[in-house]
Amino acid sequence: MKFNVNDFTVEEKLKLLSGYDGWRLYMAEGKLPEVRLCDGPSGLRDEQQKATAMPTISVLANTWSREMARLDGATIADDCVEKGATVLLAPGVNIKRTPLCGRNFEYFSEDPYLAGTLGKEYISAVQEKGVGTSLKHFCANNREHCRLSQSNEIDERTLREIYMRPFEIALQAKPWTVMCAYNMVNGVYASENKKLLKDVLRDEFGFDGVILSDWCATQNAYRAFKASLDVSMPASTDHYETLKRAYDNGWITDEELNERAANVLRLIEKCANAQRICATDKETRHKNAVTVASEGIVLLKNEEGILPFNTPSVAVVGKCAVNPPIGGGGSSNVHTDYKQIPLAELLQERMPTAKVTFGDTFNWSPRHTQIMNAAYTSAYHADTVLLCVGTDNVIETEEADRETIRLPLVQEELILRTAKVNPNVVVAVYAGSAIDMSAWIDKVKAVVFVGFAGEGGNEALADVLTGKVNPSGKLAETFPLCLADTPTGSTHGNSFVERYSEGVFVGYRYYDAYEKEVLFPFGHGLSYTKFSYSDMEIAKRTETDYEVSFTVKNEGDTAGKEVCQLYVKDVFAPVSRPEKELKGFTKIALAPGQSKRVTLTLDARSFAYYDVVNGGWRVDGGEYELLVGASSRDIRLTEKLSLSFPENEQFSQYFNYKT
Ligand code: GLC
Repeated sequence: MKFNVNDFTVEEKLKLLSGYDGWRLYMAEGKLPEVRLCDGPSGLRDEQQKATAMPTISVLANTWSREMARLDGATIADDCVEKGATVLLAPGVNIKRTPLCGRNFEYFSEDPYLAGTLGKEYISAVQEKGVGTSLKHFCANNREHCRLSQSNEIDERTLREIYMRPFEIALQAKPWTVMCAYNMVNGVYASENKKLLKDVLRDEFGFDGVILSDWCATQNAYRAFKASLDVSMPASTDHYETLKRAYDNGWITDEELNERAANVLRLIEKCANAQRICATDKETRHKNAVTVASEGIVLLKNEEGILPFNTPSVAVVGKCAVNPPIGGGGSSNVHTDYKQIPLAELLQERMPTAKVTFGDTFNWSPRHTQIMNAAYTSAYHADTVLLCVGTDNVIETEEADRETIRLPLVQEELILRTAKVNPNVVVAVYAGSAIDMSAWIDKVKAVVFVGFAGEGGNEALADVLTGKVNPSGKLAETFPLCLADTPTGSTHGNSFVERYSEGVFVGYRYYDAYEKEVLFPFGHGLSYTKFSYSDMEIAKRTETDYEVSFTVKNEGDTAGKEVCQLYVKDVFAPVSRPEKELKGFTKIALAPGQSKRVTLTLDARSFAYYDVVNGGWRVDGGEYELLVGASSRDIRLTEKLSLSFPENEQFSQYFNYKT
C-alpha cells in the first residue's frame, strides 16, 4: 500500500496531525487503514482483551541481556499481532535520576549506555514482528511529580551525555515513532521544543519516523507543529481547530503541511505493509515471562550459602507470596488473566521433602493480631523463613513519586521481629526501584530483589530460591544507603523549575565522584557459583577503536551466567568527567569449570565527551584506563591506554557522530 499526500485535502491532512480518537490515527473515512496505538512496555494494555504481563522494564534491565530484551519485545509483539495493536507505545528509556520517581519501574537504568542498548534490542525485536514502537519520553521525564508543569533545567553537556544519549543509541533500531515528554526542558515544553525535536532528534540523530506527543502533552498544536511535532494525541477538536486557524492565517505553509502529513502517511504505510507475525500462543508467552523474570531476579545477599534452600522446613510469610505486585501503576498496566499460584505451593513442588508453610500477615482485619502471631509462630518453628515484602502499584505509579525509598514500616517491623525469633531469614523484595534496606539488612542472611516481575515472577523466584535457576541478574540502578545520599535527596522538584545541578553525575557516576558508600552498587548481583577474570588484552584497530578481551572462568560446581562489564576512565580530562562510565557489557553462560574468552569493542564514542565549546563529541589524546568488572565496584582487571592524535588535530578528534 502507498499513500500520496496530494490525494488528501487540507482538512484531511490537518486531521492526520490531530488523531482520530483516544488511540487511533485519522482514517480519512476509510481511505486509510486503522492504526491503533497501544501501551505498554511490559505487555499489551487493552481494556477489552487480556494479555501476558511480562516483567517490567526495570526487571528486564536487571537481566543485562540483549537476548532477554529481544525475547521480551517479541513476546509482547505477539500479543499485539494477535489482538490487532499496530504500534506499541514503548519502550521508555528515561534515566533514573532519583529513586523517588514513581515510574522508575518502567525505565531501564541510571546509565544511558545500558538503557539505550537494551532499548534498541527491544525495539528491533518488536518491529521485526511488524509492530511499530514508540521510543519515549523524549526527554528528561525523570519525575512524575508535576510532570505536566515542571521545567527541567539541564546544561548542554548533561543533556547530551545522559538524558539524550539513551534515545540516540536506541534510535539505531529505527523506531517507527518517538513520543515527546510532558515536561519542559530549559523552559520550553518538550512538545514544542524545536531544539529537541528538530535540531537534535530530526537533524542530528536523523530520526525520520513520526513524532507523537505524550497523551495530552501538546500545549498548543501550532507551536508544536512549528517545533516538528507530527501528531498530538489523543485526538481533540482543539488541536485540529488550532492547526486549521494557523493554516488559514498562512502561518503554516502547504509545503510544511505536506511534509508533516507525509510523515504520518509513511507510518500508516509501514503498518499496512508490515508482515505481522505471531509465533507464540498464550502458554508460550507465559513461559517467556517466567524466563525473562528468572534472568532479572537479583541475588543481593547470600550469607552462609543459605540459598539455594537446603532446609527441612520453610515458613513463607507475606502477601507478596500470594498476590505479588506484577507491575507498577498507570498506563503500563496489563490486564492478565493468569492466576497466581501461591509461592509456598511452588516451593513445595520444587522441595518435595521439605515442609513448606504459609503465613499471611497483611490482611488488615480485626483478626490482624492473631494473623501476625500465627505468622511469627510459624516463623519461630521453621528452620528457615522466607519473607515476601515490597511496595505495590499504588506506591510506585505514574503521576506520583514515592515519599520514601524504605519499605512500609509495618514490613520493616515484620522483618525485624521475625529476625528476633529465627536466625535464618531470607527476604524477597518486590519493588520497582531502589529500596533503602539499612534498617534490617544486617539482621537477615539473604536478600533477593524480585522487582515487579510480571505474571511469571513468583514461578521464577521459586526456581531461583530452590536452585533450579542460578540467579544471574545485576542491578541496573544503584541502591543507596539512604535517600539523603542521592543526588536529589528527598526533594520532589518544586513544580516550577528544577535545576539538574548534579550534571552528568547521576547514579553510580555520582556515588563514585563523591566517594559515597552505597548499599548495593550499580551492576551488583551474586550467583550460586563464583567467576574469575584473567588475561586482559587490548587489540588496537584504529586510534579510537579497540577490542578488549579477557577470560572468565566458572570456578564453582554450578552452571551459571555472568554479566561482564567494561568501564572507561578518562584519567586527565580537561572537563569534569565521572570516575568511570559503562561502555560495554555482555552476559555469558558457563558450565562448572568452563572458561570463555570474552571480547568487547570500544569505538570513539566510548571515549568521547560532549564539547560544548565546539558543539560536538570530542575525544582527547591522553591517558585512559579500561576497567573490567563484575559490578561498578567490583573491578577485576584494569589496563592503561594512551590515545594520541596528529598535531593538526590539536591532540583531539572532533566529530559529529551520525548514529
Ligand atoms: C501516558 C504515558 C505514556 C503513555 C500514554 C498513553 O500518560 O506518559 O507513557 O504511553 O500516556 O497511555
